[in-house]
Amino acid sequence: MIRKRVAILISGRGSNMSALIEAAKAPDYPAEIVGVLSNRAAAAGLAVAAAEGIATASLAQSKFPSRDMFEDVMTQILESWDVDLVCLAGFMRVLGEDFVNRWEGRMINIHPSLLPLYRGLHTHERALADGAKVHGCTVHFVTPGLDEGAPILQAEVPVLPGDTPDTLAARILIEEHRIYPEALRMLASGELTATLQ
Ligand code: GRF
Repeated sequence: MIRKRVAILISGRGSNMSALIEAAKAPDYPAEIVGVLSNRAAAAGLAVAAAEGIATASLAQSKFPSRDMFEDVMTQILESWDVDLVCLAGFMRVLGEDFVNRWEGRMINIHPSLLPLYRGLHTHERALADGAKVHGCTVHFVTPGLDEGAPILQAEVPVLPGDTPDTLAARILIEEHRIYPEALRMLASGELTATLQ
C-alpha cells in the first residue's frame, strides 16, 4: 500500500491533529502525517508533533507583506514535504482562493457544527442561543467560500439541559476525534473520489 502524504495545518492545541497522528500509526491506515504547519509559533500542537518525530514549521502571516506571499511560502513548505493531502485542524486563518484552488479536492477541514448550519466562529454559543436540540461537527472539503465545501462525514450530538458552550464543545470534540481520522481514511484510500468529485 502506498500511503498518502498528509500535512496538518494548526493554530492551537492540536487535539484533532493528535487524533490524526494516532490513527495514522495503524499499519493499514492509508495516510501518513509528514508535517505539521502552524501560523502561530506558540501553538501547543507543534511540540506534540515534534515529539512524535514529525516535521514542523511555523509561519506568522504578520511577517509577510501580503496574504499571497504568506501562502506562497506555505505552498513551498508543503511541496518540500511532498504532500498529497492537507488537513486543516483548528487553523484559524481564512485561506485565499489561489491556495484553496491549488488543493481542490485534496484539502479537508473539521468544523464544529452540522454544516450548513453555523458557518464561522462561536458555533456552540450560537446553537445554544437558538435553543438547538442537536448540534455536532462536520468534516468537509475546503472551497473558497468559508465552511461551504461538500461534507464528507458528520456526527450529531444532543444538546443537554444545562449545557454551556464548554460542556457542549467537549462532547462534540470527542466526535471530532472519531470522524476526522475516518474522513481522512476515506479520502486517502480513494473511496471518496467516485461519490463527491
Ligand atoms: C475544533 O473544535 C475544530 O472543530 C475547530 O477548531 C477546534 C480545534 O481544536 N475547527 P484542536 O486544536 O484540534 O484541539
